[in-house]
Amino acid sequence: MVSTQLQKARDFEAQYGPQIPAEERPAFHATPTIGWMNDPNGLSFYQGKCHLFYQYHPYSNEWGPMHWGHLTTEDFIRWERLPVALAPDQPCDIAGCFSGGAVELPDGRHLLMYTGVQREPDENGVVRDIQTQCVAIGDGLNYEKYPLNPVLTKCDLPKGGSAVDFRDPKVWREADGTYYAVIGNRTPDGSGAILLYRSEDCLNWAYVRTLDACHNEYGRMWECPDFFSLDGQYVLLTSPQDMYPMGLEFHAGNNVLCLLGTCDPQSMTFTRQATQAVDYGLDFYAPQTLLTPDGRRIMIAWMQNWSTAGAKPIPCRWFGQMSLPRELFIRDGRLCQRPVRELEAYRGPQVLHHQVPVHGEVHLPGVQGRVVDMTVTIRPGCQGYHWFRIHVAQDDIHDTVIHYRPYENTLEIDRTHSGLPHDIVNTRSFLVHPQDEELKLRIILDRFSVEVFVNDGEQAASAVIYTRQEADAITFETDGQALIDVEKYDLTV
Ligand code: FRU
Repeated sequence: MVSTQLQKARDFEAQYGPQIPAEERPAFHATPTIGWMNDPNGLSFYQGKCHLFYQYHPYSNEWGPMHWGHLTTEDFIRWERLPVALAPDQPCDIAGCFSGGAVELPDGRHLLMYTGVQREPDENGVVRDIQTQCVAIGDGLNYEKYPLNPVLTKCDLPKGGSAVDFRDPKVWREADGTYYAVIGNRTPDGSGAILLYRSEDCLNWAYVRTLDACHNEYGRMWECPDFFSLDGQYVLLTSPQDMYPMGLEFHAGNNVLCLLGTCDPQSMTFTRQATQAVDYGLDFYAPQTLLTPDGRRIMIAWMQNWSTAGAKPIPCRWFGQMSLPRELFIRDGRLCQRPVRELEAYRGPQVLHHQVPVHGEVHLPGVQGRVVDMTVTIRPGCQGYHWFRIHVAQDDIHDTVIHYRPYENTLEIDRTHSGLPHDIVNTRSFLVHPQDEELKLRIILDRFSVEVFVNDGEQAASAVIYTRQEADAITFETDGQALIDVEKYDLTV
């Protein structure tokens, strides 16, 4: 049954979504049909397609009572819009259907597991969220909320767990048919923990253990967990709030943390061995992953940051976009990522420049554009250099700069002049690891973003930009002498 709230949202997006011309959107990054988008939700394969749901407030470009928007794709590049899947229309989710995951059931139905939010006054009369876990089951288009929702409540929390911060279930099915879900929670020390639950049918859930906890070391609340094995290691992803930077490894605010370790599959005990940042840019949060039928682990994040999400372009009928889907792998004990290989099918003719000397600022024939896949390899010329800059989305007054300083081993993204009329954080620096004085950067430009992949996926850095599309120059500049290779393709999607 379609509730009045769901029908209203479907009617609204059907009326206003098609009014947004395609050129006002990215060419291949997922955006909301209309209004506001945050976290990716329910990323899953179902009936031959990848389904991507998202935190959605169709009625404005601001966060509001959360719905689940719905997209599908067959190649992670072209997205098809489906009607809103969930609206806040039940007592247990009346204040919002927050983030969650999805899984296909053995009988062929699709199950969404999400956080239902309602508000209640606490003992001091302060109105607080009460967060519980709920499910909805459907056919890839329409979903019925389970009449016995919620399926997990504060009664299912370990001792001292918070009912106010208990959210973002990521569900999966093991080969033996057992379902697991990881869920973010807050412990009595005020910081986050990732709880693991088990179920035989996805409806009746039991607490297994706490997989890992923050102990106020990596931010505070841990949101949006994901847990999977990859190349012989176990990866626990989470998005901490209120984080302090640690050198150049994390930046302040909302971050994405990767915990790498081992896991005993019998007891599901996770032992942490290493931590790292997942994206070093300005805009990347709340990633979710899925396993493709051909065995790849693909990650998609909200390509935004809560600290800067108030900075909107004008006009702005949609706000929030997803990152380019990225293939994850482990190399030298680190989580690495590269653009999903399906992107290469959209490349136009190759433009290739080999061993080009750069001295001052140069423009290379055939190298410009705003929807581009470009790899630049930078090495010192006979005199070397102190800095090397790649300017993209450039015209007389705009540019976004990827700035490499070999003596500091830092790479910086600087979008100060990308055309945003807001005083927000615009630069981010991080340490890079050149090989034999050579740094390789794959730069993916879409109309409203820049994503940089360093040294074949060792690191990634993402930033949204809203520079006018006419600013399509790309130039290379150094204070000394450098030699570069450039391989560039326009992308036509
Ligand atoms: C992360 C988050 C989640 C929550 C959702 C609400 O960005 O805060 O923890 O479920 O957004 O929209």
